[in-house]
Order: sequence, then C-alpha cells, then structure tokens
Amino acid sequence: MNINLILYLSAYLIAGIPFGYLLAKQFAGVDIKNAGSGNIGATNVLRVVKEKDPKLAKKLGAATLFLDAIKGIIVILVAKMLGAPESVLWTIAVLSVVGHCFSAFLMFEGGKGVATGFGVLLVMMPIPALIAIVVWLAAGKGLKISSLSSLIALTAFIIASYILYPVVPGIGSHAPIWIIAIIIFYKHIPNIVRLFKHEEAKV
Ligand code: G3P
Repeated sequence: MNINLILYLSAYLIAGIPFGYLLAKQFAGVDIKNAGSGNIGATNVLRVVKEKDPKLAKKLGAATLFLDAIKGIIVILVAKMLGAPESVLWTIAVLSVVGHCFSAFLMFEGGKGVATGFGVLLVMMPIPALIAIVVWLAAGKGLKISSLSSLIALTAFIIASYILYPVVPGIGSHAPIWIIAIIIFYKHIPNIVRLFKHEEAKV
C-alpha cells in the first residue's frame, strides 16, 4: 500500500479512539455518551465525572484533553519524519479531525473536534494556534462556557492564520483550515442552538 494511504488511514483510525468515553467508562464507571451533553470530549468528562468525584473529574478531563490533542499530532510528526510534503501533512490534519468527529469505533459518531483540531493546528501553524489557545483560555475564564470559548478561539485562529499566513506555505490555500473549522462548527450546532436560547450549561 502507498505510504501516504497508510498515513491517512492511521490518522483517521487513531483519531477515532474515543479516549474520553473510554477513560470515563473505565475509571468512573459512567457512559458519557448518555450523560451531560453526550459529547465524548474533555468538557463533558469533567462535567459528568464531577458529579461523582471532582478530583477524578479534573484528572480524567485533563487526560482526555491531552490524549485527544496528541492523537492527531503523532501521525503528523511521523509523516514529517518520513519527509511528507505539506499537502500530505494537511490531509492528515483534516483526517484526524474527521476521525475524531466521525469515529469508526462509534458508528461514525464522535466528538466535536476542538482538542484534536487545535492539536493538529498547533503543529501545522504554531503561532496562530498559540494565539487561539490564549484566546480560548481567556474566553473560558471569563465566560465559563466551553462551547462558546472553543468557537471564539477557532474564529481567532482563522483570523490569525489569514494575517500571519496570507498564503499557506506549501499548499497556497486555507482550504484545510476551513474544512476543519466547518466540521467543528457543524458539530457545535446543538451548542449554538442552546447558546441562542441561553440554555448552554456553564462549566
Ligand atoms: O470541546 C467541546 C466543547 O466545545 C463543548 O463540549 O460537552 O459542552 O458540548 P460540550
């Protein structure tokens, strides 16, 4: 099999590992797909496990955030070591977000792509991603609404990427960034609806 195809398949499958779901089930005995927002991400792990054990919730939430972020990064780094061009790296970045959000292990359902998305973007465009992470932390502290903070940070990333990289090195286009952003916004539609109704839970 062609090496790029192996990388693409690995990116999709590795990113599909639902760490939040697995950790919450294994260490707290809860099915986060059927609790809280139903999402498999760090926020919902924190939210749901907190009801049972606040200390454990922080640990599992942090572990979920880290593992969800790192799973896309790993395949990109392997591809970089193999000398893959930017177009292949960006394809891996997109497939990692697709794998997390439409997981082969969860009947093509999955998370909302924030941690995995920012993980791959941190490797592909470090400065815009760091700006977005600072915005995310500030918005999270001020608003205490995870989904809104994530969407504000994503918007900050898009703006920063256009300012700092009017032409994306190696591929010339912002298309992969838009694909990642559209998937993340699409996955947040229920959150956006709740935000407009002022029903979105604070964390
Ligand atoms: O990372 C996902 C976050 O933006 C929203 O999560 O559980 O509040 O829907 P949740």
